[in-house]
Amino acid sequence: MSGIFISFEGPDGAGKTTALKTLMPLLQAKTNTEIVLSREPGGSPISEKIRKIILDIHDEEMDPRTEALLYAAARRQHLIDVILPTLAEGKVMLSDRFVDSSIAYQGGGREIGTDAVAEINDFAIDGHLPDLTIYFDVSPEVGLSRIKKDHEGAMDRLEKEAISFHNRVYDSYMELVKANPQRIKSINADQAPEKVVEDTLKIIIEKFPNIFNEGE
Ligand SMILES: Nc1ncnc2c1ncn2[C@@H]1O[C@H](COP(=O)(O)OP(=O)(O)OP(=O)(O)O)[C@@H](O)[C@H]1O
Ligand SMILES: [Mg+2]
Repeated sequence: MSGIFISFEGPDGAGKTTALKTLMPLLQAKTNTEIVLSREPGGSPISEKIRKIILDIHDEEMDPRTEALLYAAARRQHLIDVILPTLAEGKVMLSDRFVDSSIAYQGGGREIGTDAVAEINDFAIDGHLPDLTIYFDVSPEVGLSRIKKDHEGAMDRLEKEAISFHNRVYDSYMELVKANPQRIKSINADQAPEKVVEDTLKIIIEKFPNIFNEGE
């Protein structure tokens, strides 16, 4: 018995976490198979500890390769503790971010190189790629403006500094989408939240008709 593994990717502020909250009950209503939702970095006790290290020390002090290795380490433990057991039980596993985030953020954004980051992540995930990845496509400008709203305009300088970083993340994601047309399906995330959820739901149902039924 083997479940299905779906990851959700896209730039900061693309609306992944928001959409997943709405999507979960809608998806669950269409299947008898249990759906498990998790997130990265984190998602299991050891991985959450690693998440704290990544977030505590902050980017300026942490070497980019150290950061990439910590993300990969957290991912490995999340895979072992949560993802693989969930799939072994035949369940549906949803992850808010997975390996593509590292390739885009550490490989592209931090300029370590997407191949190098893919390589250390190959070691971490040992072939366990998602069956489907939904990419939330939104420009860095739109994503950042949504986040800025959340922070009530208090991050102008930081945001300005980061735009080239976010542009590189966006470009790397675009390359991943182009290179993996079978696995990664892109949706327009610059739409009303309900439409984003609707498009995501449609892709998942079409991809796994034996698990989710349209009618219910
Ligand atoms: N379709 C949408 N249209 C407009 N605003 C949205 C939309 N989806 C989410 N938002 C808002 O944008 C902000 C960021 O959304 P959210 O946290 O879901 O993004 P995210 O992709 O999970 O970002 P991160 O990668 O930083 O976790 C929130 O304030 C949310 O309410
Ligand atoms: Mg989020």
